[in-house]
Amino acid sequence: MSTAFYITTPIYYVNDVPHIGHAYTTVAADVLARYKRMSGYTVFFLTGTDEHGKKVEKAAQEAGESSLQFADRVMLRFRELWKKLNISHDDFIRTSEKRHQEAVQKFFKALADRGDIYLGEYEDWYCVPCESFWTETQLLDGKCPNADCRRPVEKLREESYFFRMSNYQKQLLRHLEENPGFVQPASRYNEIVSFVREGLRDLSISRTSFSWGIPVPGNPKHVIYVWFDALLNYISAIDYFGGGDAFQSFWPADVHIIGKDIVRFHAVYWPTFLMSAGLPVPRQVFAHGWWTIEGKKMSKTLGNVIDPYALSDQYGVDQVRYFLMREVPFGLDGDFSREAMVSRINSDLANDLGNLFSRAITMVHKYFQGEAPRAGSSEALDTLLKDKQLQVIKAVDAAMGELAFSRALASIWELVSLLNKYIDETAPWAMAKDPAQRERLATVMVHILEALRLLSVLLWPVMPASCEKMWLATGGEGELKSTRLSAIPEWMPVKAGTGIQKIPPLFPRIESVRTS
Ligand code: MSP
Repeated sequence: MSTAFYITTPIYYVNDVPHIGHAYTTVAADVLARYKRMSGYTVFFLTGTDEHGKKVEKAAQEAGESSLQFADRVMLRFRELWKKLNISHDDFIRTSEKRHQEAVQKFFKALADRGDIYLGEYEDWYCVPCESFWTETQLLDGKCPNADCRRPVEKLREESYFFRMSNYQKQLLRHLEENPGFVQPASRYNEIVSFVREGLRDLSISRTSFSWGIPVPGNPKHVIYVWFDALLNYISAIDYFGGGDAFQSFWPADVHIIGKDIVRFHAVYWPTFLMSAGLPVPRQVFAHGWWTIEGKKMSKTLGNVIDPYALSDQYGVDQVRYFLMREVPFGLDGDFSREAMVSRINSDLANDLGNLFSRAITMVHKYFQGEAPRAGSSEALDTLLKDKQLQVIKAVDAAMGELAFSRALASIWELVSLLNKYIDETAPWAMAKDPAQRERLATVMVHILEALRLLSVLLWPVMPASCEKMWLATGGEGELKSTRLSAIPEWMPVKAGTGIQKIPPLFPRIESVRTS
């Protein structure tokens, strides 16, 4: 029996071209999606683009294009990047698509029919970059209070539809109290709990000051607030109103992976919309930290925006994916620098793993003409290695369950180190000189190949392309893409006689750090 697992990324604004922050969220979601598929789940992995709103309208005007032309063009940049980064999403939703627009209008109507939407008037401070309204008291020094923004705000007064969010304060608070895992990590959970405890105001969910958006049903002078529109992508993509199987199988989502800046939208607004519609709320909202670039905030003005496409061309796709997942514990902030990246690639990938792999393959060629030998009986060192393998399989599973990608990789590297040590201690090159040790040499080689093959399986979610190569080269059958962990026995020595292929170095050493 297979269980459904629904994982999402935020949908990205198209006013900006993709950068390393976007790539981070999406790679993390991809790693989890791949691991879950490999663990036998039927995964639905959704990403997409958030195309409406004043910000996009403004950017399109500046580019001299219609909003849709502009969105069409920038959206492609995201699609191309996901292809490049080997992202395995099952769907890509655009908020400008008909399927989404219809769902948003139906949802708006459903909430209005329940009496949860009313027409009122709004006067407040508006931050265009954040698409957020703030009250006078929320402003910090008269500017946007969002810690990652702090830009000037403008006063807006307009007729607006409101959602009775205040009606759901108690229900949301109860949900939070009963489900401490609902928002992760714990620091974000605490923030949200105190925010909700302070009370919820009704939320303005329409605008009349611009037109690039989904019209309010029955009153097209208003367009629906971009966050109301955007959050609904998570159910419009699985055809909530179509009544098909997708919604039945996948809702509630298992995890919305987002950045820390958009927790309030996902952990307060979104669940209250769903409660109003009588729908279950997502199981978890996981907020990761932010990357700075060499200690500074990434910004166009500073000219330090990192393009993940160019970065992957320079260092390799799997190398970039590995660095993002390994360098910083998921949930904390991190700092990006080319030095840090090159040092990770050289030490972890080129030295520890890459050399290990080529050394092993070279030995099989040198001592057994490139064919896997037959193993004899195991000795203490071999058992130690096997025990470690089992331990690492369990540790990885536990870490992945908590989205602790960096910890999963650290556990895998314990096996990499032990395997390096195993080779040094068994010293196959010395045994190769002694015909009496032929069987022991064969046993050692089989253990090395088996451990490498397991490494290719465990690392596949993070470095899919390199691991497919490792797997095949060490005698794995079929594609890892369609291999299930449950179908891989804990100990599966490669069949004697299997050809072991020599392949070019998987992770070449990077000699210098170029800055562009
Ligand atoms: N469109 C909204 C999301 C709607 S979801 C219903 C949005 N889009 S965004 O393009 O601005 O940001 C998307 C994601 O990128 C966010 O999760 C954000 O945290 C992430 N990042 C943007 N800059 C980042 C860094 N410098 N570091 C890490 N992630 C960052 O918000």
